[in-house]
Amino acid sequence: MPDFKIYNKNCYGLTGISKHTIDALITDPPYGISYQNNEWDKALPDKKIWMDCLTVLKPGAFGAVFSSVRLMHRMMVNLEDSGFIIKDVLFWSYLNGMPKSRDVALDIDKELGVASKKVGAYKYVQGYKKHGAENYKTGKEKHILSPASEIGVQYKGSGLGIKPAYEPIILIQKPLEKKLSVAQNIIKYGTGALNLEETRLPYEKGEGKVGHNPHPKGRVAANIIRTDAIDDGYDKFFMVPKVRQHAEDFNHHPTLKPVALMQHLVKLLSRENQMVLDPFMGSGSTGLACVTLHRKFAGFEIDKTYFNIAKKRLKKG
Ligand SMILES: C[S@@+](CC[C@H](N)C(=O)[O-])C[C@H]1O[C@@H](n2cnc3c(N)ncnc32)[C@H](O)[C@@H]1O
Repeated sequence: MPDFKIYNKNCYGLTGISKHTIDALITDPPYGISYQNNEWDKALPDKKIWMDCLTVLKPGAFGAVFSSVRLMHRMMVNLEDSGFIIKDVLFWSYLNGMPKSRDVALDIDKELGVASKKVGAYKYVQGYKKHGAENYKTGKEKHILSPASEIGVQYKGSGLGIKPAYEPIILIQKPLEKKLSVAQNIIKYGTGALNLEETRLPYEKGEGKVGHNPHPKGRVAANIIRTDAIDDGYDKFFMVPKVRQHAEDFNHHPTLKPVALMQHLVKLLSRENQMVLDPFMGSGSTGLACVTLHRKFAGFEIDKTYFNIAKKRLKKG
């Protein structure tokens, strides 16, 4: 029977969760970048919630907190100021990120009152929308423009951003209980070490084993997780493709995370029957990873619609 408790309420205060009862924190909180203009993503979480998390976590417990390239420094400072130790930053790296940029040369034409040259046309396709194919047929034709002013021509091809190719995941730890060694902390609380054994990457067929005393289960997972293989002869990373926004018919959460990625983190940070917390659970991807891996789960989601989607996913298991 899946063992989870989810709350449709504001996570601040973590009402209902007792002190020193949580074995791992795994969460994808607001990034503070107003993603797709979502109101809930306007600001980074306040330090208060990380202090609440510190209180309910057992000493030595680990946490994984997703963040954005632009604001991860602030998230890390908030976590550190709240009492967590920053252990590492995992990179979930992918090839299909789209640069958010502008055609500066065309802006210059506009500013100078010069009409840009029409050099072609295309039909707009919204790839991730469910009815993308229909949009393609009915989509409005758009002009391809080239700069015409002298300065515009000089700046042809300039933009404001490079292609985003990773998402950072901050790995944190609550300090061990004072005066306890790692071994003593583990014996007392069951927390204090990463579960490397469950996340080892099996050797590939024909691959020479690593080191003097190769581990039978393969190599230790790296702090880089990838979506696609790189053909460079050294592709020894755990791989999880990105997930499409409408992959599940009933789930339209705009920042849905792949369950396989959450399962990797759940395995790394916890053991069977331990309790994992996600204060910003959205449509419940962390929870789903937990119930499929025999971990207990506690989650909070402020939005009723997302909460109901999470409930449905967790019940289905
Ligand atoms: C980045 S999304 C998580 C998406 C999730 N990883 C998934 O796969 O569905 C963050 C979620 O936090 C919720 N949220 C924001 N502030 C909150 C708060 N104070 N308490 C509880 N939930 C909150 C938002 O409604 C949003 O669904």
